[in-house]
Amino acid sequence: MHEGLHQRPRKAVRPGRRQRLAAYWASALLLASGGLWLVAHYLLALPEFAARHPLEPWAMRLHGGATLFGLAVFGSLWGDHVLPAWKQGRHRSHGGALALFWLVLILTGYGLYYLSDEGARALASISHITLGTILPVGLAMHVSLARRLRQAHTG
Ligand code: HEM
Ligand code: HEM
Repeated sequence: MHEGLHQRPRKAVRPGRRQRLAAYWASALLLASGGLWLVAHYLLALPEFAARHPLEPWAMRLHGGATLFGLAVFGSLWGDHVLPAWKQGRHRSHGGALALFWLVLILTGYGLYYLSDEGARALASISHITLGTILPVGLAMHVSLARRLRQAHTG
């Protein structure tokens, strides 16, 4: 009789245009500033008498700013996108992997601020850099797989 009542329309989980742009900007800024630090630390020659390259602290100032912005974006996606998409059970594998990347990057980034033990800090650093480098690949995969399926559905 009342079957229609039980077929509530699925809540749209695709992030809005501004939210998508914010997610791309946050990821790009984090990658660019982290990448700048890696170049300054490992590739550029040290100026005379300098203990570290002068670009390194600037790269980390940018990275810190990008982190604050990124966390705000992640927080807004958490409630609007991640949780509802998870409940609908769609794209759980690659969406969930991307969310996990963010959580581990946040934890290891926190470790880089506060760990003083050298071994523990080195472990946080290598995990952070490895995950950070593959974060854009994870985002690109998630977005392209999600788009492909949406286009297949809408024709
Ligand atoms: C458990 C975690 C996640 C799940 C289950 C999930 C699931 C989904 C699903 C189902 C869609 C397709 C929406 C539709 O077209 O109706 C989608 C698209 C999208 N997701 Fe996620 N997602 C997750 C985490 C994330 C995270 C952490 C980010 C970014 C930081 C993200 C960014 C996006 C973006 C930008 C799109 C739009 C792609 C497009 O159509 O242009 N997602 N996701
Ligand atoms: C969720 C995203 C991210 C968060 C929350 C985050 C957070 C942080 C924090 C808090 C630090 C310590 C800052 C300092 O020591 O002044 C850091 C360092 C760093 N991050 Fe990220 N980051 C993220 C993504 C990335 C990405 C995408 C890359 C790209 C490669 C990256 C590369 C680096 C590098 C190279 C360092 C310096 C490592 C070291 O001192 O040994 N991060 N990050």
